[in-house]
Amino acid sequence: MSGRKKITVVGAGNVGATCAQELARRDYADVVLVDIIPNFPQGKALDMNQAGAVLGYEPVLTGANGYEETADSDVVVITAGRPRAPGMSRDDLVTTNESIVSAVTRQAVRRSPKAVVVVVSNPLDAMCHVAKSTSRFPKSRVVGMAGILDTARFSAFIARELEVSVKDVTATVLGGHGDQMVPVVSATTVGGIPLAELLSKAKIRKLVERTRFGGGEIVDLLGTSAWYAPGAAAAQMVDSICLDEKRVLPCTALLEGEYGVRGLYMGVPVKLGAGGVEEVVTLKLTADERKMFRTSAAAVREVVAVLGKKK
Ligand code: APR
Repeated sequence: MSGRKKITVVGAGNVGATCAQELARRDYADVVLVDIIPNFPQGKALDMNQAGAVLGYEPVLTGANGYEETADSDVVVITAGRPRAPGMSRDDLVTTNESIVSAVTRQAVRRSPKAVVVVVSNPLDAMCHVAKSTSRFPKSRVVGMAGILDTARFSAFIARELEVSVKDVTATVLGGHGDQMVPVVSATTVGGIPLAELLSKAKIRKLVERTRFGGGEIVDLLGTSAWYAPGAAAAQMVDSICLDEKRVLPCTALLEGEYGVRGLYMGVPVKLGAGGVEEVVTLKLTADERKMFRTSAAAVREVVAVLGKKK
């Protein structure tokens, strides 16, 4: 057994493969790519291993259709499931992906009982509930990827609008991973200057709207959902966990009273380290933002209520 970290990525499709490749390029972990399609993860793993010879990384990427190879993973990333098609909301996927995510979680956690599970499959907030209840892991070890992606979209739009480097934009998008998400304008700065001082209210509103529908914009263009930014965002979370970076990142965590919400997975800033979610960070929101957060929570609750109903 190698002394390196071990990461399992379930779902070798667009998002899973992108995430696996990002992680392989970091060169600190071995990666196991799992998919139900015969030969598919094996082929992708072989290709990515060969890319290492060009790009200068030495990964051990393994493709598998079962879970034997995944044993004792430090992190399990779940991207298995159907992506969105045009005209579908993330929530339309709930029943199909519920059964996939619960089956995948059950098998993965049996072999890796100490892993941190990072959920990517949509509808994200609801799928976090599925992974949590199936795994029976503590809430610290089941976390979802959405906020980094939504924030990346908001940051990219702001940078383009202001013609500044995206590196100097600090933004935060919280709430559920749906059209009711909450871009927190009060906590968004460019080179330290509050966004509200740089753009008119109308311009900001436009960027906020584009962010909320940022996933749908790509679905309309591509006919399926995005993968480069989602794969990179999931890899950033894995870094923070495997390298115990303790970064404060917007992630989907189980709230138990924080932000006035109880028993619901929602996007909030969390400290992400070796233990998974080590702390939910409380950000002071304006009255408007608090209201939006509550609306977003209500939308998430509606989807979560569908779980376990239609089979
Ligand atoms: N076990 C393992 N893999 C599975 C299973 C399963 N039970 N069911 C489906 N898969 C695999 C599919 O075979 C496919 O290769 O999941 C992969 C999904 O890949 P894509 O169809 O390319 O979808 P992708 O764009 O990667 O999105 C996956 O992430 O961002 C979310 O909304 C997105 O829910 C979707 C998920």
